[in-house]
Amino acid sequence: MSKNIVWHQSTIDKSQRQVKNKHKSVILWFTGLSGSGKSTLANAVDHLLFERKINSYVLDGDNVRHGLNKGLGFSDEDRKENIRRIGEVAKLFVDAGVITSTAFISPFREDRENVRKIVEADEFVEIYVKCSLEKCEQRDPKGLYKKARAGEIPDFTGISSPYEEPSSPELTIETDKLSIEEAANLVVQYLEDKEII
Ligand code: ADX
Repeated sequence: MSKNIVWHQSTIDKSQRQVKNKHKSVILWFTGLSGSGKSTLANAVDHLLFERKINSYVLDGDNVRHGLNKGLGFSDEDRKENIRRIGEVAKLFVDAGVITSTAFISPFREDRENVRKIVEADEFVEIYVKCSLEKCEQRDPKGLYKKARAGEIPDFTGISSPYEEPSSPELTIETDKLSIEEAANLVVQYLEDKEII
C-alpha cells in the first residue's frame, strides 16, 4: 500500500443517507400528559416501522432522564433544558437518516416550537397524544398522580404545573378513544401520505 494515498475530504450528507435507506428522516414529536400513552404509542410505531425495515428509534423521557439528562428536574427551566437537549439529539438522529420518535411531556409550546425551528420545515411532526387529565389520573401507571395530589411531588404536570396544548399539531391522537394499534396505524398512515416512507 502506498503511503501517499490522499483521502478526499468528503462527507456523506443526509440526503445520501435517505436515498440509501429508501425513506426520509423526521422527528415524530409525541407530546402529552404523563400517562397519556406517549411512550406506548411511540414504541408501537417503532415496531411497525422496524417490521418494514425502516430505520427508526425512540428517545424516551424516562430513559433519557437517567442518562444524558440525569441531574435535570422538573422546574420550568430544567424542563426547557431537557427539551432543548432532546431536540438537538433528535436533530442529529435525523441527520443520520433515522425516523426519530421522542416521548416527552414537553409541556411548553415555546420549547416545542424551538425544536421545530432547528430542523427543516417538514422534519418536525408534532403529535399531540391527547387524553383527558381525568383518564390519565385514572390510569396512573406509576402512581405519580396519587402522590402529586397528596402534595408529595411538586410541579407535577396537570396538577401543579401547566401543560400547554399544541395549537396546530400535525396530528392529534386521542388515546382514550382508540386502541394502540389504531393509533399507531394513524401515525404510519401520516408518514405514507407525506411520502416520508
Ligand atoms: S418534561 O416535562 O421535561 O418533558 P419528561 O417527559 O422528561 O418531562 O418526564 C416526565 C416523566 O417524569 C413523567 O412521565 C413521570 O414519570 C416523571 N415525573 C417525575 N416528576 C414529575 C413532575 N413533577 N411532572 C411530570 N412528570 C414527572
